[in-house]
Amino acid sequence: MKAATRRQYCSPKDLKVELVPVPVLKDQEVRIRVHATTVNRTDLAILSGKPFIMRLFTGLSKPKMPTPGTDFAGVIEAVGDKVQAFKIGDKVWGFNDEGLASQATYMRFSERGNIGLMPANLSFEQAAASLEGAHYARNFINKVTLQAGQQVLVNGASGAIGSALVQFLKYHQLTVTAVCGTENIARIKALGADRVIDYKTADFTQEAAQYDYVFDAVGKSTFSKCKPLLKEKGIYISSELGPNAQNPFLALITPLFGGKKVIFPLPTDIKASMLFIKDLIEKGQFTPLIDRTYALEEIAAAYQYVALGQKVGNVVVKIDV
Ligand SMILES: NC(=O)c1ccc[n+]([C@@H]2O[C@H](COP(=O)([O-])OP(=O)(O)OC[C@H]3O[C@@H](n4cnc5c(N)ncnc54)[C@H](OP(=O)(O)O)[C@@H]3O)[C@@H](O)[C@H]2O)c1
Repeated sequence: MKAATRRQYCSPKDLKVELVPVPVLKDQEVRIRVHATTVNRTDLAILSGKPFIMRLFTGLSKPKMPTPGTDFAGVIEAVGDKVQAFKIGDKVWGFNDEGLASQATYMRFSERGNIGLMPANLSFEQAAASLEGAHYARNFINKVTLQAGQQVLVNGASGAIGSALVQFLKYHQLTVTAVCGTENIARIKALGADRVIDYKTADFTQEAAQYDYVFDAVGKSTFSKCKPLLKEKGIYISSELGPNAQNPFLALITPLFGGKKVIFPLPTDIKASMLFIKDLIEKGQFTPLIDRTYALEEIAAAYQYVALGQKVGNVVVKIDV
């Protein structure tokens, strides 16, 4: 079968596509014919082994898995002897932010892993694009108690996390001000944002507006710059550690003062995210943004594009036999 491969932590240009053996199943595993996967910011971090702390999970001196890939949508084509939850022919999707070797024609996965039946009426490409960014977006909103009518600003609304976050916040009936670049204004309005600020022509931190939450889904702001925008008990969450890794530290100390505070969105419970996302998709309340689609043979180019930090939503890799 075809698989993207690398033996060391590397940059996108070093990624190759090789012929490798089809994975052999253990008793409680399923083999999936992968139809679509994405290249996302988590894949990029696992490819390069940066930040270094990630290597505690993905392999200290070299990657545990030669094939990258953290998400998939596909069809089960074989089941191990003890598998009970799935059968051959099931359309499934899944995600694991430590890596699952999904950038290949076939992959194996424990039936107990973060795998489930795909949402109804969704293409494989859309299903794969509904996992990584949407999971991290849910890990912003599950850290707070959202109430209908609250005011929220989302910076980086055109990214994978931001574009999912805007839709989740509208589902919870908040009033959303989204920040994105000029080219993406129409797409972000179409996701339901009530107001859009173009970061290329205006600095949202200089506005007089007041928000219950400032969610920075692209990690380009800081708590100190956004603090004046927050209401008295307002909350700031960023997808990045911030300058000098200040955000986890601020998340520890700001709650002690009882006013505006920082929460750090440690991502947890992927299975719960998958159920939440599936429910919203089936209710017609969430549609993933897809920027570009690549073939597996073009995977190095897909990683190079994602590394630019300018993708609009998700970058999909379609896997033909
Ligand atoms: N905490 C975690 O566990 C975790 C997990 C995954 C990712 N992340 C981090 O979260 C961030 C977002 O990830 P993602 O996958 O959503 O990113 P992404 O899809 O690569 O999106 C980046 C988007 O942000 C926009 N953007 C760039 N600079 C901007 C700015 N100054 N102001 C507003 N928008 C800007 C870009 O649009 P333009 O082209 O218009 O600039 C692009 O559409 C990344 O920094 C990533 O490393 C964190």
